[in-house]
Amino acid sequence: MFRHRLALCLFPLLLLLSCAKESQDLPDWTSSESASVEPQGEETAILTHAPEVPPPIQRSHPSHVRVDLEVREEVGLLADGVEYTFWTFGGTVPGPFIRVRQHDVVEFHLSNHPDNKMPHNIDLHAVTGPGGGATSSFAAPGKSAQFSFTALNPGLFVYHCATAPVGMHIANGMYGLILVEPPQGLPPVDREYYVMQSEFYTAGAFGESGLQPFDMAKALSENPDYVVFNGSVGALAEDRALQARTGERVRLFVGNGGPNLVSSFHVIGEIFDIVHSEGGTYPNQRDVQTTLIPAGGSATVEFKVDVPGTFLLVDHSIFRAFNKGALGMLKVEGDEDEAIYSGLQAEGVYLSEGSAIQHISEEENSESAAPRTLSKAQRIEEGKRLYTQNCAACHQLDGKGIPGAFPPLAGSDYLLEDPTRGIHAILEGLEGPLTVNGQLYNSVMPAMQLNDEEVASVLTYVLNSWGNEGGEVSPQQVAGIRK
Ligand code: CU
Repeated sequence: MFRHRLALCLFPLLLLLSCAKESQDLPDWTSSESASVEPQGEETAILTHAPEVPPPIQRSHPSHVRVDLEVREEVGLLADGVEYTFWTFGGTVPGPFIRVRQHDVVEFHLSNHPDNKMPHNIDLHAVTGPGGGATSSFAAPGKSAQFSFTALNPGLFVYHCATAPVGMHIANGMYGLILVEPPQGLPPVDREYYVMQSEFYTAGAFGESGLQPFDMAKALSENPDYVVFNGSVGALAEDRALQARTGERVRLFVGNGGPNLVSSFHVIGEIFDIVHSEGGTYPNQRDVQTTLIPAGGSATVEFKVDVPGTFLLVDHSIFRAFNKGALGMLKVEGDEDEAIYSGLQAEGVYLSEGSAIQHISEEENSESAAPRTLSKAQRIEEGKRLYTQNCAACHQLDGKGIPGAFPPLAGSDYLLEDPTRGIHAILEGLEGPLTVNGQLYNSVMPAMQLNDEEVASVLTYVLNSWGNEGGEVSPQQVAGIRK
């Protein structure tokens, strides 16, 4: 009887002890700090490009933190020999990693480089407020905008551009991660890395060389040619692989920019000791092989590396990994531990011929920008695609523009009186006060980087759309004005 009682008394104690151990293993990132704590001091956030992560926050108090980010539209490499016009936060895909502390007051400055063609903005999922800051941060090329927010919730959040057409801005590379640390910080680890998955929709098939335009039809059917980590095929491979030494703890902040696909994130040859799924602060899983990362979401995974070798980061929707580019590497150096693993150290079987990293098809199928002879119907079709890519964000898909900001092209007296005005506007840009259909506009249209064929096609499309009276613009006309 006495023994039985002792056991009854000990049981809650043991339970308590085992809970304490559990919370040591799985430290909860949530905090009890009051939201009314006053921020002290001012600083500028350290921003890093993937796969680097800014250092942990050392402050014991919230602060006023300034973030400066510039949007740049730049041609870069999507794969060997494959170029793409990326729309970027800060010149890279993904955009820089931002690290702040819970209850920081973040003053966000977004500027849009004057050479850009598109207006842009930013929606940070860490923001409590309408649009995540999107409306307040909207900036035309050459302009900047700002807003501020208090980081109420800790966690790992995606940010992205939310300018119409939103899907296209995200598909072109406009996303990144912001980590809001809890007041006590995160448990220390040896390595932290920033990995972001996303997909690209190109006119040419995977590996087709040349400058590849965005393909709206493929994006709508969610059928990407490329699925990649950190913005391009091979961004985390070979000499750009993530590094670690045996015995170290590694934390990966993994985001998914989408725009469409959910990631089945997996590291071949490793097991995640701890997963914070969906970017949350609660360590909700242990001993996980593959974790789902929603589009516009994130996860934090932690694991200890025990043995040397190359460990592959993949989206385990496996054709994406070996045929579309979703393949990264973590190279671990150090002593072998045969008690844990005895066998070959190389990743051999996984990187044989045919893998996306080793072999990008060099099939030549690049259509040059040389003059072609298009029928009017073909020109309109081509023009529609170009319009969607280059013009619709401001003038809108229905050609009606945005009152007070971007003039309409549908029924525009300015354009229809003299279509060569359209050629001048596209080639040279247009700014300053302009009256269209009795309404005054005072905005900036940048010169567009389109060739004569493309200018002719996009204007022919405009002249034949939304009730406009028709007509055709030829490449020769454009060439004449370009001179
Ligand atoms: Cu944008």
